[in-house]
Amino acid sequence: MKRILSLISAGILLSSISLLAQTQKLRCEYLENPLGIDQTAPRFTWEFTTKQNPVSVKICVDTDSLALVKGRNNTWTSRQITSSQQLAIYTGKPLHSFQKYYWKLIDKNNQTLSAIASFEMGLLNPSDWKGAWISDSQGKEEKNAPYFRKAFEAKKEIVSARAYIAVGGLYELSINGQRVGNHRLDPMYTRFDRRTLYVTYDVTKHLQHGKNAIGVLLGNGWYNHQSTAVWFFDKAPWRNRPTFCLDVRITYKDGSVETISSGKDWKTSESPVTFNSIYTAEHYDARLEKTGWNLPNYDDKTWKDVIYRAAPSTHIVAQALHPIRHTNEILSKTLKTFSKQNYVFDLGENISGVSSITVKGNAGTVIRLKHAERILPDGHVDQSNIDVHYRPTDDKDPFQTDIFILSGKGEETFTPKFNYKGFQYIEINSSEPIELTQNSVKGYFMHSDVPAIGKITSSNPTLNKIWAATNRSYLSNLFGYPTDCPQREKNGWTGDAHIASETGLYNFDGITIYEKWLADHRDEQQPNGVLPSIIPTGGWGYEWGNGPDWTSTIAIIPWNIYLFYGDSKLLKDSYEPIKRYVDHITDISPNGLCTWGLGDWVPVKSKTPVELTSTAYYFVDVTILAKAAKLLGNQEDYIKYSALAEKIKKAFNQKYLNEQTGIYGAGVQTELSVPLYWGLVPEGLKSKVAKNLADRVAQDNYHLDVGLLGTKAILNALSENGYASVAYKVASQESYPSWGWWIVNGATSLYENWPIDAKSDISMNHIMFGEIGAWLYKGLAGIFPDEQGAGFKSIILKPNFVEGLATFSADFESPRGLIHSEWEQKGNTVIYKIVVPPNASAKVQLPEGYKVKSINQKAISTPQVGLLSAGEYTLLIEK
Ligand code: BGC
Repeated sequence: MKRILSLISAGILLSSISLLAQTQKLRCEYLENPLGIDQTAPRFTWEFTTKQNPVSVKICVDTDSLALVKGRNNTWTSRQITSSQQLAIYTGKPLHSFQKYYWKLIDKNNQTLSAIASFEMGLLNPSDWKGAWISDSQGKEEKNAPYFRKAFEAKKEIVSARAYIAVGGLYELSINGQRVGNHRLDPMYTRFDRRTLYVTYDVTKHLQHGKNAIGVLLGNGWYNHQSTAVWFFDKAPWRNRPTFCLDVRITYKDGSVETISSGKDWKTSESPVTFNSIYTAEHYDARLEKTGWNLPNYDDKTWKDVIYRAAPSTHIVAQALHPIRHTNEILSKTLKTFSKQNYVFDLGENISGVSSITVKGNAGTVIRLKHAERILPDGHVDQSNIDVHYRPTDDKDPFQTDIFILSGKGEETFTPKFNYKGFQYIEINSSEPIELTQNSVKGYFMHSDVPAIGKITSSNPTLNKIWAATNRSYLSNLFGYPTDCPQREKNGWTGDAHIASETGLYNFDGITIYEKWLADHRDEQQPNGVLPSIIPTGGWGYEWGNGPDWTSTIAIIPWNIYLFYGDSKLLKDSYEPIKRYVDHITDISPNGLCTWGLGDWVPVKSKTPVELTSTAYYFVDVTILAKAAKLLGNQEDYIKYSALAEKIKKAFNQKYLNEQTGIYGAGVQTELSVPLYWGLVPEGLKSKVAKNLADRVAQDNYHLDVGLLGTKAILNALSENGYASVAYKVASQESYPSWGWWIVNGATSLYENWPIDAKSDISMNHIMFGEIGAWLYKGLAGIFPDEQGAGFKSIILKPNFVEGLATFSADFESPRGLIHSEWEQKGNTVIYKIVVPPNASAKVQLPEGYKVKSINQKAISTPQVGLLSAGEYTLLIEK
């Protein structure tokens, strides 16, 4: 690296790159220059810039960046990758633990096409670990979060250093008094007894020649859940006092390597974190602070010895994903002062995350910070919508209430480290009078920090707010696994997640999180294929709520990842699990109809038979399995599962479809839209069923009458079958029941229930009804991935210029670059602007009755445009 930096400063590299950078966004395992990966066949992706025509490329890899610059790389030169590909898998000689590799792209004439990127391997073999798993000697009921420390001397000049830390629980790592990195709540939640994650940091800058100290603070997280709720997190089979294994691997200037590891020479002590629960809150007694505890010269004579512990699992793997971070700081919008001991802060928006308080007061002052989504008419906070499943055994662990005890040493700030909450309001109660102003308390939005890749703007402000609220709820429910809500449960509810997966993929680059979560699925799957309804789980969920309407995540998410990224790895990894899953449903559904499931959860009013929706999801899974079989070259399975899909479809239609009328079941919105959306309707009857759906929606006064499963289907079923304006009418309603109804009543996130005054199922930050966020890209902008060219190599563009909306614009950063679809309509004329990214083509389909008059001001005689290659286009369209 040093060499490359000096080249950069000499300007050599920069000038050669800027001339030749026909590619950009080089990623390895979908991360920018990742450290500590353990994928032995890592994937490389890149984008072509708009300026040049895509060319075939080769990937060059070497451990020496200079060799790469000079075109003399040794580690690997890939074969020629056809210009249409933007993804390649490493197939060179075995990669080595700890080694950093540099890579770049060249063309067939060996001309450099990219800047140099890198990836660095972590620990590939269990024997690479030098440290031991250690903890203090306390049991799992101990409340205090333990500190660990070790001082050591680096006797030589340091060139580079890495810290590798694997933890059962959560941690904060510090070196010489400074916190390492900005991740929060690391490592991510997994089924700890099956898979334990480690995290890698570059700690070169933290260390110094001479005396150093490493400090570790451990939190409980999901590993040692002490709070008690209806899902029995506290009974998880892996539960134990937190533990960690750490290697700090230092490379000295003379080339020697020294590893400072966790072991018996560490010391442990209690910390000021007197209680921490990821589910409820954190308690901090600043009087117990040990100033300088993570500095070299700290006197740790009174600290205790550590003990060895068994590793939580034998499967210690790299955490290769976008971490959780504090992404936004949110200042309080209002402050209500009831007294000097009682204040209520309002952030003005509902978030997942933590609050932070800065305050001065007497030593021993006890400040309680109670977090809620609601406020009572008297101005105090109300947790009654979110504490319903909490089962405290005493009053020491109040729900979403941090407890901060002041040290009395001037101004002090407290921000929890091992907890997050869902909230908008913070009520402060202090045992003694304190002086707070509006700036004393702020919020930090926290979530897996996945890059934003989508943007919607339209002439309808409510629609824009719905989009923003959907994204907020999506992110509020992304913590290394997708959750249902950030307050009441924090559970990885499968159903909510597959419904929201397209919303996620249009708006965020989330592949790393989904790949990790599908590994969680594989860890949780029973040998007979059954999955639990929440993943990960401490055991709850194998008995309830885990039919195909929920746990079809195992098929739907890998398929969506394939469509959006053009990468079949997850589908391949999930293939056998999908098969086992499908085979199990087949075993219990011999006639092709499946009754296992929860059905259309939290509906507005009408009920749809569970068998209808569960059979539809069974069909979806089998269809995905058949397609995956074909894609992966398994002809036998392809034939078998295609035939099974046909059988299910037939049984489904025989039972529910009245062929004369084109009505399914009783003809309510979910019953009609689910078969339409998921492809169960016989071809010849589609338009009849669609018309029935549109009529039904009209009878319902263009308002929703669906629950979770219906929301996935309703707007799409309408807009994909000629009724886009009806869909828009429903999507843009501002009266009950609708998304807009929440917004006009002040929502900044999506709710769990349609009435704003419902009595149960009333979280105010649920992603479950979030499909509308994807529908905006599909139903209005018309941007669809095409199975014929997954990863947006081929784009389907079928916009809908709907009645009542003047302008609409969508930006979507696909793996090939920006796709833009923007329209403006005036009378019978539409100006439609398109950007097709490099190395992609778009199949444009205009709604019926629209004719293209000109493209980029050149008149054309054909009414449709057909296929567009990369470029920017303005179409003049008339009705
Ligand atoms: C969750 C939902 C979930 C449902 C399953 C609820 O408690 O919050 O989002 O899908 O249970 O029944």
